Amino acid sequence: MSDETAERHGSGKGVPRHIAIVMDGNGRWARARLMPRQAGHRAGAEAVRRVVEAAGQMGVEVLTLFAFSSENWARPQEEVSVLMELFVRTLEKESIRLHEHNVRIRMIGERTRLSSRLREQIEAAEALTADNTGMTLVIAASFGGRWDIVQATRRIAADARDGRLDPEALQEQDVASYLSLNGLPDADLLIRTGGEKRISNFLLWHLAYAELHFVDTLWPDFGAEDLRDAVDVFAGRERRFGRTGDQVGRFGRA
Ligand code: FPP
Repeated sequence: MSDETAERHGSGKGVPRHIAIVMDGNGRWARARLMPRQAGHRAGAEAVRRVVEAAGQMGVEVLTLFAFSSENWARPQEEVSVLMELFVRTLEKESIRLHEHNVRIRMIGERTRLSSRLREQIEAAEALTADNTGMTLVIAASFGGRWDIVQATRRIAADARDGRLDPEALQEQDVASYLSLNGLPDADLLIRTGGEKRISNFLLWHLAYAELHFVDTLWPDFGAEDLRDAVDVFAGRERRFGRTGDQVGRFGRA
């Protein structure tokens, strides 16, 4: 981190507690270099390393990365296999290093669709880092915001049916506790690389009041400086949470 940036972000002021990222553009990055798409994904994994490190240094509490959506299963089988293999290898390679940096790893998504090898790798990484107190790195794999709401609703309905909860008494925080990010704060900042301006069924509930930041940079080209730029933009936004600008005044700034 440069001195100037350390000064800007060193105290943690203006730094979002929770950053969520849609990492888009691996395929186009590869195509522009006449390389196969898998080369783009491999370069994307390098960008993940850089951004995790930078976010940790900036004092971000939670970083959630959209690695593979519920809809990505519809990609050609070969690309799905390449991505799954990359996840296994990256977890295998990086878990120890992340553990040494006090990072807690958590995975959200439909685990039953993942291979047993990947599931075991995820469980091992989560167990190894469970007691860490630094940044929480959330990997969303086989994840969809709607899937999350459906799995939560199923469990809420079952608990109501079995008398474990009173439907009339259900509050927002109760619903949140059934969602995959249970216990973690809502996202403050969503970054999407690759030029598209959509949420693509990523976190739905937790993006309710997030600031949205879309950049044309393709994910493999995204680095620490781009993350710091996004945080600077965030710090300049006025977050009103439904109130008026006068009500939040200067304290409303991130
Ligand atoms: C979107 O780019 C990217 C993905 C579907 C995969 C994301 C995976 C990584 C960044 C690799 C490593 C991740 C981890 C957590 C180890 P795209 O393929 O849709 O790109 P395009 O829009 O240019 O085709």
